[in-house]
Amino acid sequence: MKVVFLNIQKLNKRFETSLKSQFKTFLTNGHYILGNKLIEFENAFANYCGAKHCIGTGNGLDALTLILKGYIELGKLSAGDEVLVPANTFIATIISIQQAGLVPVLVDPNESSFCISEVEVKQKITPKIKAVIVTYLYGQISGINQLKHWCHQNNLLLIADAAQAHGAISENNKKAGSIADAAAFSFYPSKNLGALGDGGAVTTSNTLLATCIQKLRNYGTSKKYVNELIGINSRLDEIQAAFLIEKLKFLDIDNTKRREIANRYSNEITNKHIQLPQWNGGNNHVFYVYVVRVKNRSHFCDYLTANSIGYLIHYPIPPHKQKALVDEFKNQIFPITEKISQEVVSIPLNPTLVKSEINYIIKKLNEYTC
Ligand SMILES: Cc1ncc(COP(=O)(O)O)c(C=O)c1O
Repeated sequence: MKVVFLNIQKLNKRFETSLKSQFKTFLTNGHYILGNKLIEFENAFANYCGAKHCIGTGNGLDALTLILKGYIELGKLSAGDEVLVPANTFIATIISIQQAGLVPVLVDPNESSFCISEVEVKQKITPKIKAVIVTYLYGQISGINQLKHWCHQNNLLLIADAAQAHGAISENNKKAGSIADAAAFSFYPSKNLGALGDGGAVTTSNTLLATCIQKLRNYGTSKKYVNELIGINSRLDEIQAAFLIEKLKFLDIDNTKRREIANRYSNEITNKHIQLPQWNGGNNHVFYVYVVRVKNRSHFCDYLTANSIGYLIHYPIPPHKQKALVDEFKNQIFPITEKISQEVVSIPLNPTLVKSEINYIIKKLNEYTC
């Protein structure tokens, strides 16, 4: 048997009829940018997340950058302010801080949840730090309520990189997108809610911030050819919004399927050489990816390849060790991030996996020996 890591064609085939119908309407409509479909999607996604506002953007990186730039416009952040960010996040989180003219300060995560560590945050905090970005990495929300409370007590903005966590729910029943002061989503095609191209969004219940980001994403305008701010061009295309409206209807069903598969892996993979992700079985995880840890990764990956099981590594080189950022974080060491980056392997988990494939993966992982 062969199990690919992810077959996006198969993922979207399930929505073929409704996507084709949306495309047909779009084509006859002739309105391609900032039209009614975008507004419809923004309302639907804000409502889904439990936030007052959603602003569609060109991608997830821009959504993050626009939140930070928005706070600068509102006077809540200033150029050169420092922003705390998990060292093991995807590089986009860190780039967004730099693009907004701010300074990223990295912090090691909690080793068992892969999410930001409140202990580390408290140790790293200085008066120069004005905001904390959490990444709901791999689809999991962990320890957010206490951190939020602490951030607000200390006058720090809390921003969520929710690019991997559409639909994840916190301990006190709030969805990703309505927990932090503002959240950024990516609709990159492989995401739990994926477009058929690039896409992203900001959600927030802060009306001033939302209005500002709405301008910033469109050259700083609220009225055509009247530019109030130095903005960028980062709009969620009308066709992607139309597709996302259809796919959003199935997000909860897909997330439930993901959790069912994760449950099987967590209960049935019993190999002592494979460390499974920590998860309490709740809705706080939407398993964008199912990440196991092994000591001898290349040996394990060769084994997966020999058994035709696809895999990916999220992420093999931590941001502070990437050539692009190495000067920025010279001589800084993040032991947990570095250890994790050498051990993690994402095995196939997505809503199109069938029982025989899941059985096969479990069987082969249980047969693995070092
Ligand atoms: C955690 C995280 N942050 C940010 C991004 C950036 O999103 P995009 O690729 O849509 O710009 C991604 C997407 O891969 C991500 O996984």
